[in-house]
Amino acid sequence: MKKILITGGAGFIGSHVVRRFVNNYPNYQIINLDKLTYAGNLLNLKDIEQRPNYKFIKGDIVDAAFIDQLFTEEQIDSVIHLAAESHVDRSISNPLEFVMTNVVGTVNLLNAARHQWKHAYSNHRFYHVSTDEVYGSLGETGLFTEETAYDPHSPYSASKASSDHFVRSYHDTYGIDAVISNCSNNYGSFHFPEKLIPLSINNIKNNLPIPVYGKGENIRDWLWVEDHARAIDLIFHQAPAGSTYNIGGHNEWTNIDLIRLLCKIMDQKLGREPGSSAKLITFVTDRAGHDLRYAIDSSKLQADLGWKPSLQFEEGLEKTVDWFLNNEEWLQSVTSGNYQSYYNDQYGKR
Ligand code: NAD
Ligand code: TYD
Repeated sequence: MKKILITGGAGFIGSHVVRRFVNNYPNYQIINLDKLTYAGNLLNLKDIEQRPNYKFIKGDIVDAAFIDQLFTEEQIDSVIHLAAESHVDRSISNPLEFVMTNVVGTVNLLNAARHQWKHAYSNHRFYHVSTDEVYGSLGETGLFTEETAYDPHSPYSASKASSDHFVRSYHDTYGIDAVISNCSNNYGSFHFPEKLIPLSINNIKNNLPIPVYGKGENIRDWLWVEDHARAIDLIFHQAPAGSTYNIGGHNEWTNIDLIRLLCKIMDQKLGREPGSSAKLITFVTDRAGHDLRYAIDSSKLQADLGWKPSLQFEEGLEKTVDWFLNNEEWLQSVTSGNYQSYYNDQYGKR
C-alpha cells in the first residue's frame, strides 16, 4: 500500500485534498499530518475520519526530529505538502511565524525525504503546494505564467517564495522528484472566516460591517477549491519530475464587485430586501503592501493534463453561501475561542 503524507490536511484546501485522495484511492494509505493551529480543524474531515485508509497524526513540521522519526516509522512514500501559515494579514503582524512554518518546516520535510528516499528518488514524489502570490503584483494587463520572475511583497508571499526555491534546489542538487504548483485564490466550503469571502458571508449573516480594504479595486482570480484539489490530483500523478504548474480560475474580480455579488446572493438566500446587505459595506484602511492584481495563465496545465475549471463563479459562490448557511455548527466552532480577539486586533484598528 502506497503511503502518502498530506501535510496541513485539517486546513481549508488540505481537507479537500485529503477527502479526494481517501475517497478516490482506496489502495493508498493517507496520513494527514497537522499541527491543528487556529486554521486546522478536524471537523473538516468528520465524514472520512473512520475510513480504513486514513490516519491523522498531530504534529509540527518545524520539529525536525519529529519529522525524521515520522518518515522512518511510517515509511512515507510520497508527500503532498500544504501545511503553512496562509493569511497575509497575520504575516504582517507576525512574519517570523511564517518563516518558521513555511520555510523551516518545508526544509525539514525535504531533509527527511532526502534521507529516507536516497536509494531511489524516482520512486517517490515531493509535491509542494504554493501560491500565485510569489509572482508579486500585475498591472492592468498580463497574466502570471510559469516563467514569470518571483517578486513577493508580503511576508507571507516571501516565505512561500523561499520555500519554492528550497524545493527546486532539492530537485536540482539531490535529485529529489519534486513538483510545485502555484494557485490563485481559492473559495468554497471549510474556508476559514478570516479570508475575504467567508469573513464577508459571516458578517453579512450577522449584520456586521463588511470591511473592504482601500477602495476595493484590488483584483483576485478566484478558483473553486474542489477544482484546485482535482488539479493537485492530476499533477501529483502525471506531472514530470521537476515541473511547475500554474492553476487559476480565469475568473478575475475586483473585491468590491465580488462583495456586491455576494450581497445580492445573500439578500436572496436570507429573504432580505434587495440592497440591504450592501449597506454593510465599509471601506477601511488599506492593507500595507497590498498587491493590486493577481491573474493566472493556466494554459500549460490545460494543454498537458487536460484540466480546466468546472464551475462558473456565480454558481460556485452560491454553492459556497449555501454551505455556510447550512453549516452553522462549523461556523460557530471556528469563530469561538480566539477568533474574536484576532478580529478585534485586526479590524478594531482600521
Ligand atoms: P489554511 O491556513 O486553511 O490551512 C493550513 C493548515 O496547515 C492548517 O490545518 C494548520 O493547522 C496547518 N499547519 C500550520 N502550521 C503547521 C505546522 N507548523 N505544522 C503542521 N501543520 C501546520 O491554509 P489553506 O488556505 O488551506 O492553504 C493550504 C496551502 O495552499 C498553503 O500552503 C497555501 O500557501 C497554499 N495556497 C492557498 C491558497 C488559498 O487561496 N487559500 C491559494 C494558493 C495556495
Ligand atoms: P484574502 O482573502 O486575505 O486573500 P489574499 O490576500 O491572499 O489574496 O484577501 C483577498 C482580497 O480581499 C485582498 O485584496 C484583500 C481583500 N480583503 C478585504 O478587502 N477585506 C478583508 O477583510 C480581507 C480579509 C481581505
